[in-house]
Amino acid sequence: MVVEIAPRVYWVGVVDWDIRRFHGHELSTHRGTSYNAYLILDEKIALVDTVAAPFAGRLLESIRELVDPARIDYVIANHAELDHAGALPEVMREAPQASLIVSRRGAESIPGHHHRPWPIRAVRTGERLSLGQDELLFVEAPMLHWPDSMFTYLAGRRLLMPNDAFGQHYAAGRLFNDEVDGQELLQEARKYYANILTPFSAQVLKKIDELLALELPVSMIAPSHGVLWREDPLQIVRQYQAWARQEPQKRAVIVQDTMWGATTRLAEAIGDGLTAEGVPYKIFHAAVTDRNDVLAEVLGAGALVVGSPTINQGMLGTITVLLEDLAHLKFHVPIGGAFGSYGWGGESVKAIAERLAACGLRLPADPLRVQWQPRAEDLAAAASLGRAVGAAVREL
Ligand code: FEO
Repeated sequence: MVVEIAPRVYWVGVVDWDIRRFHGHELSTHRGTSYNAYLILDEKIALVDTVAAPFAGRLLESIRELVDPARIDYVIANHAELDHAGALPEVMREAPQASLIVSRRGAESIPGHHHRPWPIRAVRTGERLSLGQDELLFVEAPMLHWPDSMFTYLAGRRLLMPNDAFGQHYAAGRLFNDEVDGQELLQEARKYYANILTPFSAQVLKKIDELLALELPVSMIAPSHGVLWREDPLQIVRQYQAWARQEPQKRAVIVQDTMWGATTRLAEAIGDGLTAEGVPYKIFHAAVTDRNDVLAEVLGAGALVVGSPTINQGMLGTITVLLEDLAHLKFHVPIGGAFGSYGWGGESVKAIAERLAACGLRLPADPLRVQWQPRAEDLAAAASLGRAVGAAVREL
């Protein structure tokens, strides 16, 4: 499929409706994804990014609808991950005269992945490349989301191609943001940010400031995944600023796992306490809920309350993973809570509380540890914990 997105600029990517796990098995992609590549026909011909290797033939088919690939002068690889650079070997074979343009760090990662003697030219922020009528401007964007990441801007068309930044794993039958379900789009963009970009939020804010300072007019933002931002394109930039600031909202997330239902009952009583304080909440059973969806909810939450029974002197594996994510994705959740049931040892709750505190969460109530199934007084204690968390959230 080929779509002209601006005069003589064509989307030549591939929509992958089927993919359900990304980055190996790390990230769920319930709505599929797309690998967006762009072909610019000017006096010189440039291809911006490619697609994943299994789709290389489809990319070349689309290019051939427009031009003989052998006429491509420049291939711009904004980022080396193989969902974008996987088709480089086939593209470079079909375009033997093309120079490969990469960021300075891309000059490390692209050869590192492919081990080919391609003619690589590394560019830095502010470098321009004339295509004849129009010109490309390059902006290095380290840690959005890899050190090698780069944005490419087509000046005359006011078209920003920022690779992964501002993308979504969202296969849609339409190409532009004003043609798809806005709620779905925002949900997928948020999940993408939460799971991929949250640890780099400081760099996101800095890079956006730098980009805005360049005062580049932007008519469209065309990321390398999902739909293109054509209507009010800067809305996703503003949204990224909000997510990156991680300003806490007056809502709580309770994540728990359970073996015989006792910890779940405590979670529900904690929810009652939050409700009493007027704080909305959601409960997630970590063992049966997609981990990446939970993390999207944690982004911007005012409170995270975590529960696990004790097993083998520790917590259940799902909760261990959640707490690892909380630390390494660098979520800034201000308020926390810890709870869980136990039969004999009861070590899990203390361990959860310690991990939450180490991640910077303040626990306004003592961790709640309940032996066997909760009695009425235990449920009342859980509701009390919920009220304490709720009161702290209200003060945010
Ligand atoms: Fe960082 Fe879409 O790859």
